[in-house]
Amino acid sequence: MKIIIINGPNLNLLGTREPHIYGDNTFENYFEVLKSKFPTITLDYFQSNIEGEIITKLQNVGFSYDGIILNAAAYTHTSIGIADAVKAITTPVVEVHISNTFSRENFRHQSFISPYTKGVVIGFGLQSYQLAIQSFL
Ligand code: DQA
Repeated sequence: MKIIIINGPNLNLLGTREPHIYGDNTFENYFEVLKSKFPTITLDYFQSNIEGEIITKLQNVGFSYDGIILNAAAYTHTSIGIADAVKAITTPVVEVHISNTFSRENFRHQSFISPYTKGVVIGFGLQSYQLAIQSFL
């Protein structure tokens, strides 16, 4: 089983960015934890602050991987291009958010991506990624 986690803009700053919202762990640390929790899964990780790079990555993995876990971060609420890419590929996508976007500003309540996903995991901190992986098992 091959799964990739794709993180969008500013998620490279996890650990230092608004720790009261996103926690104080880096994603690189947490990724090691995830790999040890799921030793039989081939887990890949990609992060970009650039919308087009996320679209290209979705296209490149989206016809061969078994699952994609996508936290498009702020692009969730703005990007028709990423939503179209999720719609265009055949690999199922699970959308993830670390924070509970529904308890935050109104502009975070809309996701252009959700309609084209297998499901959405929101608000469980970094554990949201673990729950998303479990949804593919
Ligand atoms: C986020 C929520 C988004 O609203 C925000 O722009 C992010 C992170 C989350 O994981 O909680 O950058 O996707």
